[in-house]
Amino acid sequence: MSGETKTQNALERFISKTRELFAKESDLDKRWTALSPILAELLADPEVLEASKSWPDCVPADGRAENLLFYEDPDYGFAINGLTKGSARQGGRARIHDHAHIYTLYGVLDGRERIERYERLDDRSKPGYAKIRKSTDQLVGPGEIDLVKPYEAHTEVTVGQRTVAIIIRSEKGGGFNQGRYNPETDGYYESLGPRQTPVEMLPKRAGAE
Ligand SMILES: [Fe+2]
Repeated sequence: MSGETKTQNALERFISKTRELFAKESDLDKRWTALSPILAELLADPEVLEASKSWPDCVPADGRAENLLFYEDPDYGFAINGLTKGSARQGGRARIHDHAHIYTLYGVLDGRERIERYERLDDRSKPGYAKIRKSTDQLVGPGEIDLVKPYEAHTEVTVGQRTVAIIIRSEKGGGFNQGRYNPETDGYYESLGPRQTPVEMLPKRAGAE
């Protein structure tokens, strides 16, 4: 023990500010809107950007995406994920999907990609059917944050560069079905969300316990 006050790194700071916010704001729309500037601080941290260069590439397999899992909060249940799309993914587009009942903040840390958002036009009464229409198509880059509310359909499209995102979810994905949409056939189905691969977000500090 050195007796020095241990300074928090960007991840620890993000977690304590998020827990503080969740403790005082129970209205979910307000809570997730207020979380955006806290995530912006994490995305702006040079140590996080540097560390992200050696995060492993996420690889979709067996019909499931992969997310890096940095943290899951034991009390509030929110999860901090990473999503890296390396050279093998270029020119690819993720399936159009929703995140079921959870709230998500999708923050771009490195690289640029396009985010497409869709609106649902039918009344959700017909099984296996969903009529959707593209509502926005935006090129996003470092520091930009997209709030995805429950059941909102969207996808990301790579534009020829490695991209890295930090994703905050109200609940860890992978354990429940999410909606999948095919606008060409108006088809809809559900399947499990991303596999969660535990990874350290930041290198362990020398002497840290
Ligand atoms: Fe998504």
